[in-house]
Order: sequence, then C-alpha cells, then structure tokens
Amino acid sequence: MQQTTESVRFDHVYKAFVARGSEPVLALRDVTFQARPGEFVSLVGPSGCGKSTCLNLLAGLDSPSDGTVAHDGDPVHGVNTSVGYITQEDNLLPWRSLRGNVELSMELRGVPRRERRDRAQEFIELVGLAGFEEHYPHQLSGGMRKRAGIIRTLVYDSGVVLMDEPFGPLDAQTRVILQAELLRLWERSRPTVLFVTHDLVEAIALSDRILVFTGNPGTIKRDYRVDLPRPRDPFHIHETPGFGELHDALWSDIRVEIEHARGVS
Ligand SMILES: Nc1ncnc2c1ncn2[C@@H]1O[C@H](COP(=O)(O)OP(=O)(O)OP(=O)(O)O)[C@@H](O)[C@H]1O
Ligand SMILES: [Mg+2]
Repeated sequence: MQQTTESVRFDHVYKAFVARGSEPVLALRDVTFQARPGEFVSLVGPSGCGKSTCLNLLAGLDSPSDGTVAHDGDPVHGVNTSVGYITQEDNLLPWRSLRGNVELSMELRGVPRRERRDRAQEFIELVGLAGFEEHYPHQLSGGMRKRAGIIRTLVYDSGVVLMDEPFGPLDAQTRVILQAELLRLWERSRPTVLFVTHDLVEAIALSDRILVFTGNPGTIKRDYRVDLPRPRDPFHIHETPGFGELHDALWSDIRVEIEHARGVS
C-alpha cells in the first residue's frame, strides 16, 4: 500500500458506457478529486451527470474507462467490500425482521452472535426504533425503513460510506429528522462519506465539501468548502451565518447546468 492521507481518490477518471447497436455514452469526463479520512463530501449536479456512476466505481461495481479510482491508496479492482453502500432503495430483506436486517452485515463479516445482537440493539435504539425489532419491513413506515437501511450499514465500521439519495422519496420533515440522526451517527465513528443528493440545503447541512458536477458528460465544475461550524442542527441550518451566500452560489452554478441540459440559453 502506498503512503496516503486520502481515503478516496479519483484521478482523471473517464467512464464511457457502450451499449450494443448505439453510440457510446460518455458519463464522466476527467473527474479528479480526493476525500480525506472522515470527510463528508456531497456530489450534486443535474440528473444523468454521473453521480451514481462515481459511487459504483468506488464500490467496484463498474470500472473506469480511463484514469484511476483509489481507496486508501489502492486502486479499486473488482467489488470493494470495504465500503458501505446505501442506495436509494432501502433493499431490506422482506423475510427478515428489523433486527435480522440490521444484523445482516455483521453476520456476513462473522461478528459473533452476542456482539451482533448488542450492537444492533444499540443502533436500533439510537434512531428510535426500539420496540420494532421483530417487525418485518412491510410493517414499517418509509422513514423507519430508511433508518433501518442506514443503521444496517453504519453498524459496522467501514472507513467509507457511499450514500445515493438515501432520503429521496421521503417527506420534508422526515428528511430533516433523518439528516439530524445521520449526523449524530456519523459523529460517532467519522467515516468518509460520499453523499449524492439533489437537495442543496441537505448538502450544506451535512457536508464538509460539496462537489458540483456539470451536466452530461459529468466533470467537476466547483469544489465548495462548507465552513459552517459543527455540530450542526439541520432544523436551523438556514439561520447559520454563511448559509445564504453558499446556497446562492451553489444554486447559480447548478441552475446554469440544468438550463444547459434543458437547452435553455
Ligand atoms: N449501465 C449503464 N449503461 C449505459 N449507460 C449508463 C449506465 N449507467 C449509467 N449510464 C449513463 O451514464 C450517465 C450517468 O448516469 P448516472 O446514473 O451516473 O447519473 P446520475 O448523476 O446518478 O443521475 P440521477 O441524478 O438521475 O440519478 C447517464 O447518461 C446514464 O444514461
Ligand atoms: Mg443517480
């Protein structure tokens, strides 16, 4: 392993998708960025700009057409089991109880039963799901299923957590509650996070940095540092000095890309 202070590194990454019988689609063009250990980095940009593709490359579910994607200094080749991946769908197993779902990732890693049970219970209680341990996913609300999906990944200490619009379909109030819970969980072990969202307020509330992507093919247009103090309270993030300026700057960057994608000049 090389000496490195980076948890994640994208170095001049290109990704083209080639489908039989049609022109190749260039999804990513010359994407370069790094994330330090413990940094919370959001990826924002118009639909189709390659945000999910970036996460898939780091998870090793796909490989770059050119350039390097590295985790802890080592290029990713094949499925990268040392990252946690929380997708937009909660992907809970319907035949397992809430407890069984939360224990799953630890089971796969051979964590002894007693330790598994205690750790799962601690996390279930942390997000207010005590009393629902034996409920099955169809007996939980949308917000409860999201919580279960999130703690299932955060319950084991992976150094890097990938989150792809994890709060996508939820109502505004539940989103903010879950943002606050996510920050509390993240503060406990401080994994590096790559977080995809379309919600700029959410990106500001959570992140240390926000990468703004151009429309297709995606490349990084701006790398914003979010200097608002921590711990942060997502319920009152709008009132934090500096919020308004940052939100305006982000929005004007993104608006240009969205209008460009829609053919508005
Ligand atoms: N497996 C694939 N085969 C062919 N093209 C793909 C594949 N996956 C993604 N693409 C294309 O690559 C581009 C980037 O897709 P990606 O899913 O990364 O975008 P995104 O930024 O996550 O968008 P959204 O915000 O809508 O989720 C799109 O043009 C998409 O059609
Ligand atoms: Mg996506």
